[in-house]
Amino acid sequence: MNFHILTLFPDMVMNGLETSIIGRAKAKGLLSIEAVNIRDYAFNKHHSVDDYPYGGGAGMLMQAEPVYLAYQAVEEKINTRRCENSAEQEEQPTGSMKREQKKLRVVYLSPQGDTFSQKMAEDLAKEEDLVLLCGHYEGIDERVLEEIVTDYVSIGDYVLTGGELPAMVMIDAISRLVPGVLHNDVSAEFESFQDNLLEYPQYSRPEVWHGKQVPPVLLSGHHKNIEAWRREQSILRTKERRPDLLEKAVLTKKEQEFLEKLSEE
Ligand code: ADE
Repeated sequence: MNFHILTLFPDMVMNGLETSIIGRAKAKGLLSIEAVNIRDYAFNKHHSVDDYPYGGGAGMLMQAEPVYLAYQAVEEKINTRRCENSAEQEEQPTGSMKREQKKLRVVYLSPQGDTFSQKMAEDLAKEEDLVLLCGHYEGIDERVLEEIVTDYVSIGDYVLTGGELPAMVMIDAISRLVPGVLHNDVSAEFESFQDNLLEYPQYSRPEVWHGKQVPPVLLSGHHKNIEAWRREQSILRTKERRPDLLEKAVLTKKEQEFLEKLSEE
């Protein structure tokens, strides 16, 4: 998967995505992340990227043209690569079909957007390319947003100084769903938010720490009992910490009864 970040602070995002799992996935070629500096497209007389808002008001706005030119450069690069790839595929003898080119998704990070969720991450992880547009100052001229943005996304109800941290949050959450990025493919599936339940508690060595014993069932080697215990713990934990999630949780009849019993207690 290829991420393209339009930003005034390319170092901030590139440095932040260099380490650990995401850094390794990049090195392995499973992900590519490029940051495009919008300032490099400030071809106007003053080489500026910001200006005062019409009608007055506090702060400066990012101007439409540098953002648009930076976007166009990315779009052109993606289209060229896609064309080359489909030309290569057409050269294959049989069974090759010209693929429909998917519309490029362009996310604008903004507190006004839809709140980012695991479901959204799963949806976006299916894209081959994703453009993330980071605003600064008081935002971006509305006209360019109307022309290029397909998705408005917020990472929560608070206001940050720019879209870079939200873009990094999104890239992290999406990347770990790309096949091969996590060592253990099952771990992306069986964790918090799978079936709308939180993850069960986990323990490692030693068996007793600060007088606290690891739940005996986990030492039993009885896989069915362990799995049943973990599901119950997930339900219990979700009820205690995020009861709102339970409305959409996928439970068996037995688990539903377990939940009802918990509510009676
Ligand atoms: N830009 C500033 N604040 C933001 C937020 N909460 N989510 C996404 N983008 C933002």
